[in-house]
Amino acid sequence: MKLRSSVLVALLVIISRLTLIGGEGMWIPMLLQQMNEKEMQEMGMKITAEDIYSINKSSLKDAILLFGRGCTSEIISKDGLLLTNHHCGFGNIQKHSTVDHDYLTDGFWAMNKGEELPNPGLTATLLIEMREVTDSILQGVDEKMSMKERQLQIKANTVRLTSNFEKDSPYKASVKPFFKGNAYYMLITEVFKDIRLVGAPPSNIGKFGGDTDNWMWPRHTGDFSLFRIYVDKDGNSAEYSEDNVPYQPKFYFPISLEGVEEEDFTFVFGYPARTNEYLPSYAVELITEIGNPNKIELRETRLDIFSKYSEKDPAVRIKYATKHARVSNYWKKMIGESGGVKRMDGINKKKDFENEFTNWAKQSGNDQYSLIMPEFERLYGELTPVKVASEYMMEGGMAIEVIKAASYYFNLVKLSKDDPNNIEAIDAEIAKLKKRKAAFFKDYYKPIDEEVMTSLLKLYNENMPDGEYKPAFLSTISTKYNGDYKAYTNYVFSKTMFDDDAKLTEFLDSYKPKKYKKLMKDPAYKMAMEMGDLFRAKLGGQMKAINNSIDSLQRIYMKAQMEMKPDDRFYPDANFTLRVSYGNVGGYSPKDAVYYKHFTTLEGIMEKEDPDIYDYVVTDRLRELYETKDYGQYADKDGSLHVGFAASNHTTGGNSGSPVLNANGELVGVNFDRCWEGTMSDLMYDPSVCRNISIDIRYFLFIVDKYARAGYLLDEMKLIKNN
Ligand code: ARG
Ligand code: ASP
Repeated sequence: MKLRSSVLVALLVIISRLTLIGGEGMWIPMLLQQMNEKEMQEMGMKITAEDIYSINKSSLKDAILLFGRGCTSEIISKDGLLLTNHHCGFGNIQKHSTVDHDYLTDGFWAMNKGEELPNPGLTATLLIEMREVTDSILQGVDEKMSMKERQLQIKANTVRLTSNFEKDSPYKASVKPFFKGNAYYMLITEVFKDIRLVGAPPSNIGKFGGDTDNWMWPRHTGDFSLFRIYVDKDGNSAEYSEDNVPYQPKFYFPISLEGVEEEDFTFVFGYPARTNEYLPSYAVELITEIGNPNKIELRETRLDIFSKYSEKDPAVRIKYATKHARVSNYWKKMIGESGGVKRMDGINKKKDFENEFTNWAKQSGNDQYSLIMPEFERLYGELTPVKVASEYMMEGGMAIEVIKAASYYFNLVKLSKDDPNNIEAIDAEIAKLKKRKAAFFKDYYKPIDEEVMTSLLKLYNENMPDGEYKPAFLSTISTKYNGDYKAYTNYVFSKTMFDDDAKLTEFLDSYKPKKYKKLMKDPAYKMAMEMGDLFRAKLGGQMKAINNSIDSLQRIYMKAQMEMKPDDRFYPDANFTLRVSYGNVGGYSPKDAVYYKHFTTLEGIMEKEDPDIYDYVVTDRLRELYETKDYGQYADKDGSLHVGFAASNHTTGGNSGSPVLNANGELVGVNFDRCWEGTMSDLMYDPSVCRNISIDIRYFLFIVDKYARAGYLLDEMKLIKNN
């Protein structure tokens, strides 16, 4: 049975009973008018859905770009200044940093356009238009098809549609599934390729509180960085060139100097990456009670080792800064998520709903629907051991840096074995590996990796049940090394060449196809290969087969839930397409007897200050501005300088850097995080504790103007002061 898109839209627009409360929901911009405008205006919004998203006139959407591949950014000036988070620009800031020019630590400010730094490879993507294309994409698809046939048909339809579009257009087109494949939209985008770094605060502002405060409210992080889009002389997207000029956008955000009050309406407009709000209890149980705890332990082990060495040596700290931030981020997120689901008794809530669902299906005599839950139970039962094994492989075995590095040589070995005369392909592969090698050794510190190997192999071996999903080297450690992980690590590092720049360089420089045998004998390569083989032969295929069945069941379950509750408003799970979330500024109670206010101030930075702890160092300059209360027009009515605020907008990863807008559509903040108690919002949203965290836009302006003395940048912005 196929859900026609017309039926779908009809289902979506019947909004007689609202079960959604607080800020739950990530809404499709082109459907705002039908689905949300009325409610948004009742909540205080003074603009229209057409002001937010329009294909007929310039609208807010023209100033929002996907930043790189994982964040959101917004244009805030007539000359294409692009604002995003510090943690989104982090990788690029780090690339420009050395011990002598440590922009990560000291910040960076271009004092004129000539000083802005290019970032090869960095892109920013603008949505030109989205179109509903469900009917074209599902053409020729019928419910009797196998998952594979269905996927092939959808793919063929997608290719036809997008290539047809692209042949007459300068833009790119892609198609994404919504509502678990019950609807499809085509996204038409323009990709900008010359994005230059304009400014970044020092880490003790941009990352104030570091990984310690990450995912937490009250928060005092000035998490922003500033870039600029450049285009060719005709205003078209172009690769970097000295001759490029600043982009003149169709729209850029006016910036409000008014701040926000408790309960104010706000909305977030950006690129949420992935949520899973419609999963069955079995899935939530697997994620929060099995997968997360396993990964938390593995990551914590790694992080402790990173920190131990970073504290001793600033050079090591720079090398491992990005790695630490990356590993730590989801480590902490997973702790919050599992805790949050538990606190809201989420699994039982899901179970209650599922009972209700199955009863409804039985009463309506729908056999297909009444079998959904037992089928989910069976499939998740099958998935569990396979998923656990692959997560241990990824987060245990492959998290050891030399092993991961060795795994990139699979292709060279394959080429050398199968096609030794194809010198061209082999040379190209060598060139790729050399590039990778340079990046690897720039940020590698062997003592860390050795300790990581010893510790992770122990966890991997001890926690994975014996059997077909364990790579052979783990039993070697148990039998031949008597469980001595350190001895095994010493053996690997004494023999491998993947930990040694000089050896590897020499190997690649003098590479001949028959030398692949040397790789095959390398112990790190062997470990990588055992895992790779295990994944290819078993885990990968099994996981894909089970996930395919789960996906097609989930598609039916999604449709069924919408049929069961025809009066509810449903939003599709996040899928890295542009969405609008809206809610109110507000604090929350994280636990009994405690209430957190909705904003933080510079006062709080001073309270947290600790010159001995890297994450809480405050520079003399900031202290001086604090002591002289030199806040200028950035001070709040209460006289203090607001740093961050919390609100009930439903956000997730990818929303970082998103503009937070007030009732007039003016910029009041930049989203960068969520509170820890609410991180389960990717699975289940709880309006009482789910809060997004934003930097107060006035703090951003204060840092640019007063702190960095780069106030010249404000000349190209539009600041709004009401009185
Ligand atoms: N938790 C935020 C988000 O998921 C910020 C992460 C970057 N900050 C950090 N301290 N690691 O991306
Ligand atoms: N910090 C996240 C990001 O980088 C946002 C979130 O997960 O709330 O996108």
